[in-house]
Amino acid sequence: MNHAAIREADYIMPAGERVHIRPLEKDDLPGLEWDGEYAHFRKLYHQHYENSLGGNTLIWVAVNADAEVIGQVFLLLLSRQRELADGVFQAYLFSFRIKPAYRDQGLGGFMLEMVEGFLRDRGFRFLRLNVARANPLARRMYEKHGYRMIGPDPGVWRYQDQNDEWQTCREPAWKMIKKL
Ligand SMILES: CC(C)(COP(=O)(O)OP(=O)(O)OC[C@H]1O[C@@H](n2cnc3c(N)ncnc32)[C@H](O)[C@@H]1OP(=O)(O)O)[C@@H](O)C(=O)NCCC(=O)NCCS
Repeated sequence: MNHAAIREADYIMPAGERVHIRPLEKDDLPGLEWDGEYAHFRKLYHQHYENSLGGNTLIWVAVNADAEVIGQVFLLLLSRQRELADGVFQAYLFSFRIKPAYRDQGLGGFMLEMVEGFLRDRGFRFLRLNVARANPLARRMYEKHGYRMIGPDPGVWRYQDQNDEWQTCREPAWKMIKKL
């Protein structure tokens, strides 16, 4: 798997702006921090970018007419946690986010369907994700797209922030799955 095999697409926002969806490039990494709001994930994003070079993680960004990153979706094809992604039949979607001004206008659904189509073309049969229990809007959106809840997840995980300090994230979640 290489970058050339990854799909690109355009989405036209209801007001007419063209948004381009393409694989993440190294120069996009600062844009994922959203003017500082996500600076604490700097190291994590770098690690995922490095992993994307090997092909086990795929990352798409949505870029607006001013070349600003306004959306992102990460896909794990193969994980040490095989119940998430086994590299053959099941993948795991995470870090899916669109800037507020671009939400609720169809872009997220379009990116989700793009990722699902990409996986289907490669023989994957299931897509897993976690959605925060405190995020019923997103859960409802996934259900509309055919995902079903398969149980709770404590949502506890650790990461090293931009100052090398270990942080613990506690965000109880629902596990969801879709048959592609
Ligand atoms: C969830 C998200 C990626 C969807 O992208 P989008 O472009 O808004 O999606 P669409 O326009 O295709 O679909 C809109 C749906 O998202 C829901 N949505 C709108 N604002 C939202 C928000 N702030 N958070 C979560 N979901 C939201 C809407 O209720 C709508 O659901 P409906 O179809 O049941 O009415 C985007 O809203 C977002 O970035 N939300 C905040 C981060 C987040 O919740 N990420 C998902 C983590 S699992």
